[in-house]
Amino acid sequence: MKKVKVFVCENCGYESPKWFGRCPVCGKWNTAKEVVKEIGKGSSAPLLSLFYLSQGNLESQIRFSSNIDEFDRILGSGFVKGQVILLGGEPGIGKSTLALQISDKVTERDLKVLYASGEESIEQMFHRAKRIGVQSKIAFTTEQNIDAVSEAAKDFDVVIIDSIQTFYTPELGSVPGGVSQIRAVAGKMVKTAKENQTVVILIGHITKSGDIAGPKIIEHMVDTVLYFEGERTTDYRILRVFKNRFGPSGEIAIFEMSSKGLKVVKNPVFIEDDIPFGNAIACVLEGSKPMIVQVQALVSRSKLPSPRRTAVGIDITRVNAIVAVMSKLLKLPLDMHEIYVKILGGMRITDPGLDLAISSAILSSLLEKELSKMVFIGEVGLDGKIRPPFAMNKRLETIVKSGFREVAAPVKHKGLVVHEIKNLSDLMKTMG
Ligand SMILES: Nc1ncnc2c1ncn2[C@@H]1O[C@H](COP(=O)(O)OP(=O)(O)O)[C@@H](O)[C@H]1O
Ligand SMILES: [Mg+2]
Repeated sequence: MKKVKVFVCENCGYESPKWFGRCPVCGKWNTAKEVVKEIGKGSSAPLLSLFYLSQGNLESQIRFSSNIDEFDRILGSGFVKGQVILLGGEPGIGKSTLALQISDKVTERDLKVLYASGEESIEQMFHRAKRIGVQSKIAFTTEQNIDAVSEAAKDFDVVIIDSIQTFYTPELGSVPGGVSQIRAVAGKMVKTAKENQTVVILIGHITKSGDIAGPKIIEHMVDTVLYFEGERTTDYRILRVFKNRFGPSGEIAIFEMSSKGLKVVKNPVFIEDDIPFGNAIACVLEGSKPMIVQVQALVSRSKLPSPRRTAVGIDITRVNAIVAVMSKLLKLPLDMHEIYVKILGGMRITDPGLDLAISSAILSSLLEKELSKMVFIGEVGLDGKIRPPFAMNKRLETIVKSGFREVAAPVKHKGLVVHEIKNLSDLMKTMG
């Protein structure tokens, strides 16, 4: 093996044999760090080990429960031995709290958990544990050297690394938190997880500034990527599966944050009452989780040549498409109005079943007509037709269970008052 010196950008990972003041890829200044790399000589490539399906050397995935039903559900029935999970989110969102609660529940099953905190002192950890009522047999350490942690990890069933940005390996000369250290730390823990069948949860901070040097650079190395999101203004926290090698992605679990920690919200209803116009209730599914949400729209006259359009919690291009269909088919002067659309409760919704509620909220604000307490379900096509989204029965069940009596949708139903809406003109009629 030959050793060479290279310079690596601490922000984006760009490599150069020469020092650089400003990274030519990401444009950041003073991010060049010297790293010693080993490179193999010529053609001494090792032989491949080949495996054939017919040999039947298939190791089955061994699953075990986290002891939290909602967490097990989004993972696709619990942890898989040797699984590496990235748990990302903004600082203060509740990652350490969630990891601590999971650790606690896991130890209740007589499994061993190591909680390595490179960020907080033992006192801080114990304070949190006391505050949220954790009294289990979790082993804590504040060692930041990942080599020491991965050695110790061999004796545990679950290992938490909080956060990946605060650990380092002495093998690299660079400081913790940079691209090369984050990659090295993740790489070492992946190896440990696979060799010892330990579940590893890597916590990673994401900042709004969008620096590349964050957990995103290790998404490809891990089995499962979970992001914890939510608005600071509400107590709801959403745990979303972005990637999962052992189950479906797109699943979400909803929690409520309090001084006692996170509590699972089983049947989420995100509604703020008593706002007269521009509010429509919808039943949506994120993953397989049904929930009741409220869309709020504000439509106001504008003198600007291209009036403002903003969307919070939904893709703006979808709102624009719906607005275009409404303008054309209902002959509404929406191009002369500013339109703001928002999902209450800090939710981010991708389900197209929300379309009809978006249209209704916009129409209600424009016409200043109050909508009665009905739930809107439907996808709006470019032809103005309203189509039933997937899992219609599950949505209707949820609506009944949540105590609503009226629904506006392209369906028929015995237990509910149905405003059968097949196209946008039908929607106009429900507005009276
Ligand atoms: N004493 C407290 N009372 C109520 N909530 C608290 C208290 N301390 C922390 N929290 C909640 O916990 C959050 C921080 O959680 P934490 O797990 O440390 O986040 P992260 O690890 O993602 O940075 C705070 O934003 C707040 O919502
Ligand atoms: Mg934390």
